[in-house]
Amino acid sequence: MRAAPSPIDWEGLLQVAREAATKAHAPYSEFYVGAAILTAEGEIFSGCNVENSSYGLTNCAERTAIFTAVAKLGPKLTIRAVAVVNGRGVPCAPCGACRQVIYEFGPEATVLFRGHNDWQQCSISDLLPYGFRLP
Ligand code: THU
Repeated sequence: MRAAPSPIDWEGLLQVAREAATKAHAPYSEFYVGAAILTAEGEIFSGCNVENSSYGLTNCAERTAIFTAVAKLGPKLTIRAVAVVNGRGVPCAPCGACRQVIYEFGPEATVLFRGHNDWQQCSISDLLPYGFRLP
């Protein structure tokens, strides 16, 4: 029999995401975002948004966290959970590009973000139905 997975420490993950948001480079939007990911192995990685004067080059906090994890662990990353915060405390679900990148490494990941009423927890497949996989 397999042991049940340990419960996710969402408050700890949010705390790491909040700390990451303080590092954001967001002089254009002034919207400071932080993300923390929990791997299947129990490691935590964080990231912030990094904007650019050529706006389209901006990297979201979620992707920064995931790319940081891959740079450290290599491609065998499995994401179990993602938490996203922003400096304004307003509703902010991951953008479409980040959903696809979360799905790549965590097709069963759970994502926590500020929804319209309160914190909202969603599976990535709810956020991104029919995510793309190379056939
Ligand atoms: N942003 C993120 O970092 N994550 C999200 O989930 C949504 C948007 C950033 C990108 C940009 O730097 C700023 O928020 C405004 O769009």
